[in-house]
Amino acid sequence: GKPIRILGIETSCDETSAAVIENGNTIRSNVISSQIESHKRFGGVVPEVASRHHVENITLIIDQALREANLTLDDIDAIAVTYGPGLVGALLVGVAAAKAISFARGIPLVGVHHIAGHIYANRFVKELEFPLLALVVSGGHTELVYMKEHGAYEIIGQTRDDAVGEAYDKVARSLGLPYPGGPHIDQLAHEGEPSIPLPRAWLEGTYDFSFSGLKSAVLNTLHNAAQRGESIEPKNLAASFQESVIEVLVDKTFRLINERPVKQLLLAGGVAANKGLRRALSERAAREGVELIIPPLSLCTDNAAMIAGAGYIEYKKGNLASMTLNGVPGLPL
Ligand code: KG4
Ligand code: ZN
Repeated sequence: GKPIRILGIETSCDETSAAVIENGNTIRSNVISSQIESHKRFGGVVPEVASRHHVENITLIIDQALREANLTLDDIDAIAVTYGPGLVGALLVGVAAAKAISFARGIPLVGVHHIAGHIYANRFVKELEFPLLALVVSGGHTELVYMKEHGAYEIIGQTRDDAVGEAYDKVARSLGLPYPGGPHIDQLAHEGEPSIPLPRAWLEGTYDFSFSGLKSAVLNTLHNAAQRGESIEPKNLAASFQESVIEVLVDKTFRLINERPVKQLLLAGGVAANKGLRRALSERAAREGVELIIPPLSLCTDNAAMIAGAGYIEYKKGNLASMTLNGVPGLPL
């Protein structure tokens, strides 16, 4: 029969994105307009600047997504929009746009959790099999999410302070690298040696994480060296930081898998683009005979195809949103 087509809309942070997907697993278009250049000079995302950019771009981006898919709104079965978590002023732009189109054209509306979207980016690679475990590592989240079926998310462990991406960005900033710092640290780490001793927060007996102590240790290392008039090789510090992060993430993930066997392990979120993490997880998964799915780089950072992917599941379940849908900055998964 005719494929089910979802128009996805994502505006939770600094990417304005719209996409059209079919049957939950095929991308017809995925247009992403990044505002990174506008935020760079501030060293991070400025919420009001983000909202203003979304307002300027959202209609053009949605038009472009439909055009690139060779479709019109007549072909769309549902509109899926991120309604949290994220910056409230940014979320509201996408939510308002989605509601306006839904209302004017009588197209069903679906609200999507941003992290559910990151997890569903993996479905464009391979059909999901349950139970599965998703390691979610983004700028705002670090979570181990266990799923028994589509659309059911159980958080087994999460960060108690900084998210992984946040720690990457702060460490990068302390080394004078531009925002967002994650990719720069990743690159430096590959050029350096993990020769500087840094802590690992194991939080024994839990599947929780903590990265603020590690971040502080990096800052202290730089500070102490400066006071002694010594210099630290940024690439070695980056390599040492990255090794600590990856060791804890990989070890805790596989400890959980040994306790709760799964059919698949998924990697999700912006930090899923990290070369070191992708390699370490792949090696360990191969060794332990676990099927690992990792999204292509283009689907790791924020995009609307992944939102449409998670929205497709809610649409099939009949979980439609009403015209009272609102942006929820602290939306729980
Ligand atoms: O998922 P995302 O696009 O936005 C959020 O939902 O937070 O993730 C952005 C985060 C930023 O902190 C960025 O520095 C980090 O992902 N990131 C990376 C890499 N690429 C992006 N961190 C480490 N290594 C990378 N290669
Ligand atoms: Zn994200």
